[in-house]
Amino acid sequence: MQHTSNALGAPNERREGPDKVTGAARYAAEHTPAGCAYAWPVPATVARGEITAIDDSAALALPGVIDVLSHLNAPRLVEQDDATLAVLQDARVPHRGWYVALVVAETLEAAREGAAAVRVDYVVEPHDVTLRADHADAYVPEDTDGTSGEHVRGDADGAFDSAPVRVDAVYRVPPLHNHPMEPHAATARWHDGRLTVYDSSQGATTVREVLAGMFALPKERITVISEHVGGGFGCKGTPRPHVVLASIAARVTGRPVKLSLPRRELAAVVGHRSPTVQRVRLGAEKDGTLISVIHEVTSQTSRVKEFVETAAAATRVMYGSPHGRTTHRVVPLDVPTPSWMRAPGEAPGMYALESAMDELAVHLDIDPVELRLRNDTAKEPDSSKPFSSRHLAECLREGARLFGWSERDPRTRSRAEGPVLVGSGVASATYPALASPSRASAHAYPDGSYAVRVNATDIGTGARTVLAQVAADALGVPVERVRVAIGSSDLPDAPLAGGSSGTASWGWAVHEACTRLAKRLSEQQGQQLPPEGVGATADTAGTADAESEYARHAFGAHFAEVGVDMVTGEVRVRRLLGVYAAGHILNARTARSQFIGAMTMGLGMALTESSTMDAAFGDFAERDLAAYHVPAHADVPAIEAHWIDEDDPHLNPMGSKGIGEIGIVGTAAAIGNALRHATGVRLRELPLTPDRVL
Ligand code: MOS
Repeated sequence: MQHTSNALGAPNERREGPDKVTGAARYAAEHTPAGCAYAWPVPATVARGEITAIDDSAALALPGVIDVLSHLNAPRLVEQDDATLAVLQDARVPHRGWYVALVVAETLEAAREGAAAVRVDYVVEPHDVTLRADHADAYVPEDTDGTSGEHVRGDADGAFDSAPVRVDAVYRVPPLHNHPMEPHAATARWHDGRLTVYDSSQGATTVREVLAGMFALPKERITVISEHVGGGFGCKGTPRPHVVLASIAARVTGRPVKLSLPRRELAAVVGHRSPTVQRVRLGAEKDGTLISVIHEVTSQTSRVKEFVETAAAATRVMYGSPHGRTTHRVVPLDVPTPSWMRAPGEAPGMYALESAMDELAVHLDIDPVELRLRNDTAKEPDSSKPFSSRHLAECLREGARLFGWSERDPRTRSRAEGPVLVGSGVASATYPALASPSRASAHAYPDGSYAVRVNATDIGTGARTVLAQVAADALGVPVERVRVAIGSSDLPDAPLAGGSSGTASWGWAVHEACTRLAKRLSEQQGQQLPPEGVGATADTAGTADAESEYARHAFGAHFAEVGVDMVTGEVRVRRLLGVYAAGHILNARTARSQFIGAMTMGLGMALTESSTMDAAFGDFAERDLAAYHVPAHADVPAIEAHWIDEDDPHLNPMGSKGIGEIGIVGTAAAIGNALRHATGVRLRELPLTPDRVL
C-alpha cells in the first residue's frame, strides 16, 4: 500500500516505483519512433595520432547499412566549451576510444556489423598515459570556484617541520568508473525544423542548451526528455557524445536514430574518476591538536579538456589548524577525459585525509574518534567563515554510541576468529550544501488537484516524490492531490541532478511557486477556479557561496567493522554505520536509500573497484561488469544510516542540505582504518585487495 503523508520528512514511497518494477517506465533507448534507424559508433584504436583515411566501402556494402559518418562528411557543429562533444569534427585522435565514425543502419545488428567493417588508417604518435606525481607537465590549475588550485594559510611547511608530531604519507586512488546500470543512450528525431531527443542524462536543460549551440538552433525548437534515468553518479551530469552523435545521424539521414553506447566503450567516452596521488602531512601537538595540514593532490586530465579532481577541497573544510596548504596539480595525458564521479574530490580526498588522521591517532595512541573531536572547529579553516551548522561532533558521538565503539579494544590484532582478524575503524565525511538557480510553476485546478512543473531529473533518487512533499507542504494540501511533472526541457528550466543539490535547487523553486500560488488562492477564496486552473511561477537564485557569510556543508561519520582472512587475504566488511547531519531530511525512506547506496559505493571503492590504464595501449583494461567489480549483494552487509536533524536557517526554504554524495565520502577510509586495526597492516593504496593485504 502506498504510504503517503503530507509532512516533509515522511517516508513516502517513490511515485514511479510501480512503473519501474512493472517495466512501464521507459528509458531513453526504449523509445522507438516510426522509421527508427540504429547507430553504432567506431572508436579509435590508437592512443594518439591523426586519421589519414577512412574506408567505408565494405560497411556501406552490407545489407541494411544506411550511412557511415565521420569527420569527412559529418556536418560542422558550432564549437562548445566542452570539447569532448566535438565528435566527427576533425582528424585528431586525442585518446584511444575517441569516436572516429558512426554507422547508421536499419537494424542494431547491421549497424554493429557495419561499424566492425569500417577501416580507419592513422598516423600514430607516441603517447603518454602514465600519471606520476613528479611528471614534468604537472601544473597548478586556476582556482575558479574555490575548490581547485592552491590555498595557503600561514606558514604550513615551516609549522609542519617544527611540529612535535608528524605524519607524512602518500595515498593512491586508482581510476574509477561510474558504470551506471543504464548505459548512455539517446533517441533523436528531427521533424519540422525541430529536434526531439530522449536522452539518458542528469540534466536535460543543459543538454538542450548545448545542442542548441552546436546546431545553431533556437532553444525553443529543441526538446530533451529524460523521464527515467538508470543511474548516473556524475557521468551523465554533462551532455555526452552519444547525444551529439544521435542528433547528427538523425539530421543527416532524415530518420529517427537510436544510439545506445556499448558498455565496453563507456570507459573511454563518458568520464572516469581521475586517479590521484595524494601526499598528506599532518603536524600536531602531542595531545593531537593539529598545527599544520598539508594536502597535495596530483590527478590527470586529458588533452581535450581540463578536469581537476579536487581532492584537497574537503581538507579546507574539515579540521581546525593555524597553518595549512592544499594544492592541486594536474597532468595532461593522452587519456580519456576524467569527470565527475559521486563526490568528485571529496571521496578520494577524504580517503587520504581520514587515513592520515588514523595514522596520527595510532601514532599518538589517541582514540581516533577523540582525535577528530579535538580538532573540530567552529569556523571553516580556510575562509574563517562560521559554519551555518556543523554537527560533526554529534555525528561522531552518536555513531560511536550506536556502533558500540566503547567496547573496542584499541590494540591491533586484538580480535581473532580462527584465521580471521576483526577490526573497526572510523572516518569523518563532509560535502558542501549547494543550490543552483531553478524555475518551477504550480497550478491549482477546480477539482482540487494541483500540478507542479519543473525540469528536474530522477536518477533513481525519487525526485518526483520529494518534490510532491515540498509542494504539499507549501500549499498546505494532502500530497496525493499534487501531480509532479519532471524530466523534459519543455518544463521550466532547472539544474542537473548533481552536486547533491537537485532537491535543494528544484525544491526551492517549487516551494516558492507553491507559496505564491497559495497566496493567490487565499486572495480569491470562495471563487470558482477556471478550468485551466490558476498558476504561479518562481525563478529562484539558489546559493552563491561567495556572497554568503556562512560556510555551508553537511557532515557525517562512518564506522566500519571488517574481517580479514589472513590465509586468503580477503577483506569482508561486516558492518557499516553512518550518521549524517545534513539539514532537514525531506523523505526518510529515499534519503536512507541514498545514504546506504553511497556507502555501498564506498565499500566498492575500498575493496573491489579499480580501472587499470594499460600503458602500452592507452586503454582501460576493465570495460564490463565482469572485470570492473562493483559490490555484489553478498559483499554488502547490513548497512545502517542514521541522521541528526539540523535546524539551519541559512540554506533554502526546506532547510535541507544535499544527501546524495556524503555517504561515499569517508567510507573507504573507515574500511581501510578498520583493516589496519584488525591486522596492523596500513595500506595506502585502494582497493584493499588480497594481494596487497598479504
Ligand atoms: Mo554527482 S558526481 O554530482 O552527479
